[in-house]
Amino acid sequence: MSEEKGFTLWFTGLSGAGKTTISHILEEQLRARGSKLEILDGDVVRENLSKGLGFSKEDRDTNIRRIAFVADLLSRNGTPVITAAISPYRSIRDEAREMMGDRFIEVYIEASVDACAERDVKGLYAKAFSGEIKEFTGVSDPYEEPLNAEVTIKTEEEEPAESAAKLIAYLEERDLIPAAVSS
Ligand code: ADX
Repeated sequence: MSEEKGFTLWFTGLSGAGKTTISHILEEQLRARGSKLEILDGDVVRENLSKGLGFSKEDRDTNIRRIAFVADLLSRNGTPVITAAISPYRSIRDEAREMMGDRFIEVYIEASVDACAERDVKGLYAKAFSGEIKEFTGVSDPYEEPLNAEVTIKTEEEEPAESAAKLIAYLEERDLIPAAVSS
């Protein structure tokens, strides 16, 4: 892929909705096409760039602003980015949108609290419901759904591979990645 176009797929959704899983499938597929794609995953960012931040609104906003800052730097230099953080507050997502303009693509990774709690991959929902973890998004802390997401992925209705395929099709449609060469 020469002269790759930069963009940011801004994933937003509850913990356990499927953001990380879908981002990794996309990463594999885009890299196979020669992309330099980078992922900024909430859990990973919180281990380094945002180490020490908690889950108050102020700390989440700081975390998201940092992610947006890096996504902007990369995407404006032709490196595609997927951000995979809950990013629960609409106003900060809109800030990121304003910063990146048409490079910003909001992707709502939609799953209900019930579905995420049933999956409970990390065992955090059980702790949130028992009160052991406070300020847990969707249980005891807000999640503001996107109003104008470019793409909505309903992970209760489709498999991660289908979701990834939809996003690839969207990027091809927008001419942000070259159409796959059929053999
Ligand atoms: S964000 O709100 O600042 O966007 P981020 O995506 O970075 O959140 O981190 C969320 C991850 O932190 C969750 O997937 C979960 O593993 C963990 N976590 C720990 N405590 C909380 C909490 N109170 N609310 C949400 N996620 C939490």
